[in-house]
Amino acid sequence: MSDRREFIIKSGLACAGGMLGLLSLSACKTIHTVTASEGGKNVLILPLNEFSYLSKGEPKQRNLVIVNHATIPFSIAVYKLEDGTYSALKMMCTHNACDLNATETVLVCPCHGSEFSQTGKVLSAPASVNLAPYRTEVSDNRIKIYL
Ligand code: FES
Repeated sequence: MSDRREFIIKSGLACAGGMLGLLSLSACKTIHTVTASEGGKNVLILPLNEFSYLSKGEPKQRNLVIVNHATIPFSIAVYKLEDGTYSALKMMCTHNACDLNATETVLVCPCHGSEFSQTGKVLSAPASVNLAPYRTEVSDNRIKIYL
């Protein structure tokens, strides 16, 4: 095999390996999910420290926590917004009630592709109705989510 051809094959394999590595790294990033506690009738409690974590010993902040509880049929995406307030959104698409997937920036519907902002606003059709945020209240280092 010529040196040139061998070089091309090895470069291609190295590139493919690197791409696979990048793909697996991004796939490894998980969204933090928490089972909330009850704070009374139709109230869930999410501790604020769920938005904090350590990375290589350094304190970091995440902007999204997914909240589950046995009493709710759809998870709730709780975003910490840039202004320091919180948005709690039922992860049910307003188009046809599919479960939404949450990323750090948007909620995406796997059924027909609708997208919603961190505050529930429709960004992409076919959904035409915004997600209605749950009322939240922050006190004593926790978020109360009123269902
Ligand atoms: Fe979500 Fe259709 S159910 S876009």
